[in-house]
Amino acid sequence: MCGIIGYVGEKNLIKVLINGLKKLEYRGYDSSGVAILSGGKIFRHRAVGKILEMEKTLPRKFFSPVEKEKLKIGLAHTRWATHGRPSEENAHPHIDCGEQFVLVHNGIIENYLELKTKLKKHKFQSETDTEIIVHLVEEIYEKTRNVLESLNTVFKEVKGSYAIVLICVNEPGKIFFARKDSPLVLGIGNNENFVASDIPAMLEYTNKFIFLENGDYGFVTDREVKIYNLKNNIEQVRKEHKINWDPVMVERAGYKHFMLKEIYEQPLVVKENIVSRIFAEEINFKDEIKINDKKLKQIKKIFIIACGTSYHAGLVGKYFIEKFAKIPVEVDIASEFRYRDPLIEKDTLVIFISQSGETADTLASLSLVKEYKITTLGICNVIGSTLYREADSTIYTKCGPEIGVASTKAFTGQLVCLYLFGLYLAKIKSVVDKDEYKNLLTSLYKIPAFMEQILNDTNQIKILAKKYSQKHDFLFLGRGINYPIALEGALKLKEISYIHAEGYPAGEMKHGPIALIDKDMPVVVIATKGSLMEKIFSNLEEAKSRNAKIIALINKGSVTKNIDEKVLLPEVEEQFSPLVNVLPLQLLAYYAADILKRDVDQPRNLAKSVTVE
Ligand code: G6P
Repeated sequence: MCGIIGYVGEKNLIKVLINGLKKLEYRGYDSSGVAILSGGKIFRHRAVGKILEMEKTLPRKFFSPVEKEKLKIGLAHTRWATHGRPSEENAHPHIDCGEQFVLVHNGIIENYLELKTKLKKHKFQSETDTEIIVHLVEEIYEKTRNVLESLNTVFKEVKGSYAIVLICVNEPGKIFFARKDSPLVLGIGNNENFVASDIPAMLEYTNKFIFLENGDYGFVTDREVKIYNLKNNIEQVRKEHKINWDPVMVERAGYKHFMLKEIYEQPLVVKENIVSRIFAEEINFKDEIKINDKKLKQIKKIFIIACGTSYHAGLVGKYFIEKFAKIPVEVDIASEFRYRDPLIEKDTLVIFISQSGETADTLASLSLVKEYKITTLGICNVIGSTLYREADSTIYTKCGPEIGVASTKAFTGQLVCLYLFGLYLAKIKSVVDKDEYKNLLTSLYKIPAFMEQILNDTNQIKILAKKYSQKHDFLFLGRGINYPIALEGALKLKEISYIHAEGYPAGEMKHGPIALIDKDMPVVVIATKGSLMEKIFSNLEEAKSRNAKIIALINKGSVTKNIDEKVLLPEVEEQFSPLVNVLPLQLLAYYAADILKRDVDQPRNLAKSVTVE
């Protein structure tokens, strides 16, 4: 939610800022802006729409800051509107009355109206909560004449979440920053430094990063990094992380969209997660799980907390963990969990799943659980993110950067981690038969090849997408471990094609959705082989009797009566079928959205990383 980049160094300033911003566009894209310091003055440019709109209209000044200035300093922002509609005035950066400060912000200031009344003598130019901060800094600075001290006071006055980056004309070589509950990462270079919301913005220039913690504030110059924390206001030593992501990973590599590239990366993601954790037919999480076996054996209950697609992965995890590790699992949407006074007893493990590791509701739930002193486990795709650092242990999903707003490879990465963790628990608790354990591992090993088989021939899905993309409503049905896949299939279609779709447990269809069915409604049924296949075929027949158009995912040899469109899939172990069954549904959503000329990677109103409540 909103992307920030700041740079100080000798590189081509505007190029670093705009390129960095483009890598953050997945965080929000309704307006953007840039500000540089040149000749002791702030120059700012903002525009509504995507970053390209802002870039196209950049005045010449931005390309040639004052000649003698070797050191270049600036910041930029891409916005996902919360307070104030997308407009040029509301776009960041924001400037104070005396034009001494320029600031960008990601987050929400909850007490901004109260603060605004205190800042009566200031002239506001936007409807945003952000502008309050820059005026507040100005007000405090009048007394302190010290930016760091002013930031420290801001922390005490402002309620809400924020990552802020600020430049002051009186301290021209410094980029100041502060963070609370919104992510901010420092990129460490040679005679240059960066501050950004996420790693991809800086990956072209450095692989060394410092992840700021809550309450951190400070500044970077081209050669210096100074971090303080609100708790004691003394200088902090923060670990530098080396991230081995290749900058090419954040390019489209010839694919039309990031989403398509990421769909195709899934067999590799699954393979990586398996081969790095299975040794001599045993699952080993090495340093990832720091909970000892004795404690794991004592676990009586598991909660899984997540949002969006990650929540759907959690639902699959429930079916699997309960079946094999014999531990009851409750899955919660983070925004519900955090406000519902959950009853958490000791000997509970709480798992948090998040691609970004920065989703506000998931992190708030994590803080809540930590107050209960309950063991926590993260499943996360971003090393160094807040979830990664703050959970007691974290399993890394090994997907590499996911750029498409609609999550695909992170989902399959999460699934495979949950499968491995479920089996690992089952083994430690000695509740799984040796042969069954071995057979399951063997079946899991085979999954990437089956996934490749589907991706090598997507013709049947393209034809379906063409035929049905003009429909207005879809129903997705699944049962058992494939019920969450029906939810995920519907979510993907809604997110990127804007076609209304509902996912439902097939057995529940009679209790409502059946009333919607008529000849215009495509019903996508996950009917691959498994323990509930006959049941789902009965549901399929019920839908067909109401004239629905049936699109069914089936295996070779299944009955095809009543099916209008067959999607033939390779037959795999039922427990792992979600890894395979989700692919045609991701592809159906992708091709439908592409045919409808939707903005696949940046669908309207959505953001990849939801860092506000
Ligand atoms: C947003 C994204 C989804 C994602 C969800 C949870 O809604 O658009 O793709 O599933 O957030 O994000 P997380 O990073 O916590 O998995």
